[in-house]
Amino acid sequence: MSKRIDVTDLDVYYSDFLAVEGVNIEIEPRTVTALIGPSGCGKSTFLRTLNRMHEVIPGAHVKGSVELDGEDLYAPGIDPVLVRRQVGMVFQRANPFPTMSIRENVLAGVKLNGGRLARSDEDAIVEKSLRGANLWEEVKDRLDKPGMSLSGGQQQRLCIARTVAVAPDVILMDEPCSALDPISTLAVEDLIHELKTEYTIVIVTHNMQQASRVSDKTAFFNIAGAGKPGKLIEYADTTTIFTAPSVQATEDYVSGRFG
Ligand SMILES: Nc1ncnc2c1ncn2[C@@H]1O[C@H](COP(=O)(O)OP(=O)(O)OP(=O)(O)O)[C@@H](O)[C@H]1O
Ligand SMILES: [Mg+2]
Repeated sequence: MSKRIDVTDLDVYYSDFLAVEGVNIEIEPRTVTALIGPSGCGKSTFLRTLNRMHEVIPGAHVKGSVELDGEDLYAPGIDPVLVRRQVGMVFQRANPFPTMSIRENVLAGVKLNGGRLARSDEDAIVEKSLRGANLWEEVKDRLDKPGMSLSGGQQQRLCIARTVAVAPDVILMDEPCSALDPISTLAVEDLIHELKTEYTIVIVTHNMQQASRVSDKTAFFNIAGAGKPGKLIEYADTTTIFTAPSVQATEDYVSGRFG
């Protein structure tokens, strides 16, 4: 279950373009870490290095290391598919599989992992995951209806259920609420709060209130200018970042003076 993440001297490239430079960060298990910073500073790029999704893009590569409980995800012989099973990801736009029912969507990742399960085991995973995603009560009577028949906020929670179903150690979220209304946003934030008892969570957000509501730690990334690499500027307890940051750029950003 919940694991710690240690990132050391991480440089992230798209071919020869250095997009993010020199990240060092230690993320404790059972915490929520928010990644904030202006557009283009490399938050999504950095997030995707934590489950080796980055290298899906041709030419994309990293230098440095990312360790999960001391095991380097980038060591030779490590299978990126297994990494992504341990480190799940929820995207900005809810992306349920369009031809699948609610039930099939929840099980999609589990089945992809090659598991052939008895119907009763599947039912148990579906219920546990949907309960975990705070969606069970809303959908339990229509599990065979299309995932696409749900509202946007419900679809996002369905995607979280799909992520939780494979029992990962870490959950990454890239602006998971940016397409949601305030009520659905609060529902997802409540859910994040509950999930952190079992998972290490890293969330990218542009919403400063959200960062302060959901996260224990906040990492501020910034970029010196177009074409320059993004860097981790400051990483501390969320209350410190929002009330007494040690770097001027952090203060300017969180107080809305730029970005
Ligand atoms: N697939 C890609 N190929 C080449 N460069 C990319 C690719 N994706 C992102 N970049 C570049 O990497 C840098 C960081 O982008 P990234 O998407 O990580 O920023 P971000 O902080 O997530 O921004 P936003 O807040 O707008 O989502 C940018 O200069 C961007 O143009
Ligand atoms: Mg982004």
